[in-house]
Amino acid sequence: MKKVLMVCLGNICRSPLAEGILYSKVDKNCIIVDSAGTGGWHIGELPDQRSIQVANKHNINITNQRCRKFQVSDFDNFDIIYVMDNSNYLDVVSMARNEVDKLKVYLILEEIFPDLKVEVPDPYYDSERGFENVFQMLEKACEVIADKLKE
Ligand code: 4NP
Repeated sequence: MKKVLMVCLGNICRSPLAEGILYSKVDKNCIIVDSAGTGGWHIGELPDQRSIQVANKHNINITNQRCRKFQVSDFDNFDIIYVMDNSNYLDVVSMARNEVDKLKVYLILEEIFPDLKVEVPDPYYDSERGFENVFQMLEKACEVIADKLKE
């Protein structure tokens, strides 16, 4: 059973979409997908309404998700940790206990733009268009991730 964790800052906009999109592409009996945030402002809350809406538009329901904070034990509980931007990367890696932990962390868009350090922009202060843009980026990355997980 492969376990994948999606991480952003708030765990209400980007990582819930990444979780929902990847889940929609894999066999749920073989792969666990979860998400978390490095910040703790929205713990227990539903994803942002705009993420719920853009997911719905693409026939993905993310309303089962509740916000939680990333914790050190996530390094033990997950095989791969995908972060959305460079600041998430630094926040997560700063909690790593060793090299094994660190090597689990990847920028999610590295899957489509290897070595380029491209970020999924934070859409929190953006319009609906920003959420659609984030959805499209995550859709492409999750397509690649889902294919890799099938290997
Ligand atoms: P996310 O977006 O990291 O994609 O979930 C954010 C959501 C909330 C906040 C920041 C980013 N916030 O500061 O509350």
